[in-house]
Amino acid sequence: MKICVLPGDGIGPEITAQAVRVLNSLDLKFEMEEALLGGGAVDATGNPYPEATQKLAREADAVLLGAVGGPQWDSLPREKRPERGLLGIRKDLNLFANLRPAILYPELANASTLKPEVVAGLDILIVRELTGDIYFGQPRGVREENGERVGFNTMVYSESEIRRIGHVAFQAAQKRNKKLCSVDKMNVLECTQLWRDVMIEIAHDYPDVELSHMLVDNAAMQLVKAPKQFDVMVTGNMFGDILSDEASMLTGSIGMLPSASLDDKNKGLYEPSHGSAPDIAGLGVANPLATILSAAMMLRYTFGLEEQALRVENAVKKVLAQGYRTGDIYERGTNKVGTREMGDAVLAALA
Ligand code: NAI
Ligand code: MG
Repeated sequence: MKICVLPGDGIGPEITAQAVRVLNSLDLKFEMEEALLGGGAVDATGNPYPEATQKLAREADAVLLGAVGGPQWDSLPREKRPERGLLGIRKDLNLFANLRPAILYPELANASTLKPEVVAGLDILIVRELTGDIYFGQPRGVREENGERVGFNTMVYSESEIRRIGHVAFQAAQKRNKKLCSVDKMNVLECTQLWRDVMIEIAHDYPDVELSHMLVDNAAMQLVKAPKQFDVMVTGNMFGDILSDEASMLTGSIGMLPSASLDDKNKGLYEPSHGSAPDIAGLGVANPLATILSAAMMLRYTFGLEEQALRVENAVKKVLAQGYRTGDIYERGTNKVGTREMGDAVLAALA
């Protein structure tokens, strides 16, 4: 079980250190190696995704990433920017399936902007296709036509691309409550009619999962109106980009949201949904729970260690119940702690 650890920039090193402590406390004999990605990699090598990192990442079973970027690299040319490192590794490892859970912990119910009765107990998983769709389709560009500029992009999905993300979503649904909602816009986009047809075809392989379909505009509405009707949602790259941000914000707490990006052999890159938080970097106050929960997703999806994944997730629930809070989720009457103390609390809860 080889893990490539990429702490990255800003708060990245502080939060990944806590996730590494948690993984090491499980006595599972992980082999971990650290490498550079992002701004620090640019400073050291001129490349945001250096060759040594590529080699380690390709050889590893899983990658644990903090976050990349920061204002000191904002003036660099596009191909040297830290974000290029992130896009580079996702593409290099063929990570086509992006999994983003949005869970509202009862102790953090006040963090949501929605009414408690609408969001209490929310626990949904968005499965977003990450390497296709209108973001990559050809032709694309801006051209002159009849004396004016015309911009165009092309939504493209092949049957095989839809099928592989569909299988990931159905299998995720099997591990949860056996309910899958596929989101498309088949009433106006042929490409997404194919999406719906293929989802219906592969549903035959998963007779225990109940498949439903929803148009994306309605899905956006339903997510704020009655989000608890959903369990697992699957959709294309663009709709998923928008819906996953919408869904994650239902919980209101950026420091709590993990993510996984998987290839077709369950190799994965695991990272918190937030960025490098330069405003609090180095202060030891960042919330490490999103990264620790990302490590739990690694146990579940790459290593198939469901029981260990649940152990870590339950430890996180326990520290919240015990009142430990970093600044981003602090409320009066709770116990404000820093990054390392939060890590200590999770380790204690595991022990
Ligand atoms: P951000 O997510 O880094 O920060 C937004 C706000 O949330 C800040 O006030 C920050 O202090 C707070 N925050 C974020 N994570 C937190 C945590 N774990 N604990 C406590 N507070 C937390 O987004 P922002 O400010 O837009 O971007 C900062 C840098 O991060 C930029 O360079 C951006 O490009 C990069 N970024 C990197 C991502 C990645 O590596 N996947 C994703 C998003 C942004
Ligand atoms: Mg987005």
